[in-house]
Amino acid sequence: MTDASLDAEFPLVRTRRRILKVNHAGECGAIAIYRAQRWFSSLWDEDLNGFLAEAEEHEIGHRDRFRRAMRERGVSPCPGTALWVAGGYILGLVSVCGGKRGVYACTAAVERAVHGHLDEQIEFLADRDDALTDVIREIRIEEAAHMNEGEAGYNPNCQSAKGFTGFVTVIVEALIGLATFGDSHRLRRALRRTC
Ligand SMILES: [Fe+2]
Ligand SMILES: [Fe+2]
Repeated sequence: MTDASLDAEFPLVRTRRRILKVNHAGECGAIAIYRAQRWFSSLWDEDLNGFLAEAEEHEIGHRDRFRRAMRERGVSPCPGTALWVAGGYILGLVSVCGGKRGVYACTAAVERAVHGHLDEQIEFLADRDDALTDVIREIRIEEAAHMNEGEAGYNPNCQSAKGFTGFVTVIVEALIGLATFGDSHRLRRALRRTC
């Protein structure tokens, strides 16, 4: 697929609007996950507590940066944002049932899915909206740090962890797909074809 056909299939204004809405809603969901985990993290150790507190603070910053970018481009929040928040609290509480490793596995699975979509968004937006590309690039650095911390905190070969992270990945990918009307997954396939 050439750049011209990419532009035809993914007009900038519509695609950017969907990217901003899903990213903002996703950040609200991420805040809810970390907040719910923090209600119980004092049961474990200071390292986990510190990580969750810092990650929550990062996600609040990401949410605010996306909200600012939305205002600058005349985009309103996704009407389903409250559902992302409710889902985030539920997922955070479910992960706590798996103890400290459940919390880290949840972080790894969520951040891995997010990371993949941020990469595609950066690839699409580069040269189309440089300011937003920079915002996503900067946020991606912190998301990568969350992902790495999560991945170091559980055993990916453990069967129950595989099942749980697989379940989380399916849920997050489905939500992102629904919120972008399928754009996120179509964009991934289209960008692979242009390589
Ligand atoms: Fe984030
Ligand atoms: Fe994150």
